[in-house]
Amino acid sequence: MSLISFDASACAYPAPRVSPLPGMRLSGLSASASQATAWQRRLGNSRCFKQARYALHAAYAAAGLQAGGTLLAPAYHCRTMLDPALRLDAAFALYPLNARLEPDLHALQALLQAGDGAVKAVLATHFFGFPQPMDAVARLCAKHGALLIEDCSHVSPSLYGTPGLGRSGAYAVGSIYKFSAAEDGGLLWSNPPQRLAAIEPTQARAVPGWRVEAQALLHAWQRGRRRLGSAPAPAGTATTATLPRGSDRHEPQLRLSAHYEADAAAEWAPSPRVSRWLARHTDYAAAARRRRANYLALLAGCRGLPLVQPWRKDLPEDVVPYMFPLLLQGPPEPTFDHLKRAGVPVGRWDDMVDSQCPHSRHYRLQLLHLPVHQDLGDAEMNWMLEQLAAALPTGRGDQA
Ligand SMILES: Cc1ncc(COP(=O)(O)O)c(C=O)c1O
Repeated sequence: MSLISFDASACAYPAPRVSPLPGMRLSGLSASASQATAWQRRLGNSRCFKQARYALHAAYAAAGLQAGGTLLAPAYHCRTMLDPALRLDAAFALYPLNARLEPDLHALQALLQAGDGAVKAVLATHFFGFPQPMDAVARLCAKHGALLIEDCSHVSPSLYGTPGLGRSGAYAVGSIYKFSAAEDGGLLWSNPPQRLAAIEPTQARAVPGWRVEAQALLHAWQRGRRRLGSAPAPAGTATTATLPRGSDRHEPQLRLSAHYEADAAAEWAPSPRVSRWLARHTDYAAAARRRRANYLALLAGCRGLPLVQPWRKDLPEDVVPYMFPLLLQGPPEPTFDHLKRAGVPVGRWDDMVDSQCPHSRHYRLQLLHLPVHQDLGDAEMNWMLEQLAAALPTGRGDQA
């Protein structure tokens, strides 16, 4: 199993001109915590972590990965989904997905069967906030004695535990900071709620000190102030041709990412109180409206652009999108490079364990993740669309 990572170290990309995640703004906070208490009531029981990756670590351990079990994870993934399994020294295999990033149920069944009882956990993700057919996956898991771990990291906290979102997995995790003003925050819950009692910290839950609390406040405030007009425009893209571009690197041995390793001490730590307060007082209903409006603006704006296709052409009424995924149909690198140099907070999962799944392989470099969060207004969305239009090939072979 080899990891393909994208080495951008020589590219010297500027910092994004707008924040990829929401920050603290008074207008985005609500005086009451009623939306947060609604999800807490629905979940019945939950536990707070610094980030969802640590909640996954706890769930993987409770599922038996620690004792030499195998994890089945989606072929399209980011490192944070695998790191907790590596940390437990567990084996893992990847299952293929279709173009909508739904699990290929036949292939999943075959892998469960071949595992012959060794597969202890299956991770399944509601990618970008679009509900996946979790019940079908849960049935397969039950048949083969594996636990389903439902990844709600891309789901708005206001939807935790609503039909289809976080109710099927034996354990489910959420990543609160992706949707709120908080600097961090991950959540773990279980179905039924009593199952959470099986989660035993393997080290003392270090309570964050005042320095960490102050930092959490400062970072949330700084993110909320990062607007289009407040950051200097990066140097013109005319120099792009003379700058080095990133390249793929194949690493035969998969190791724990340096990022997880550096912060492994945070594994059992709760998020700072500041973050928990901000998470409880975020106005998720207003955020959902803005996210949907931003998503639809990108959907409409992309219609006239060459060589791109939205990953999903629809936005069902009950979906709160995490990002706007956009498929590039031309060569990915010139476009990605252009957007990065223009300061667009574009992402993609270019560090990935290679698999036979054609969609995951294709999406690794071709599927861009563009932010739609609640701090982005019309000016930011229009600017992103302008940058995108300028970054795409014109069809005259100018970016070959
Ligand atoms: C699909 C998915 N699962 C899990 C995680 C881990 O979330 P966190 O950053 O809260 O650790 C991420 C992180 O971005 C993610 O995208």
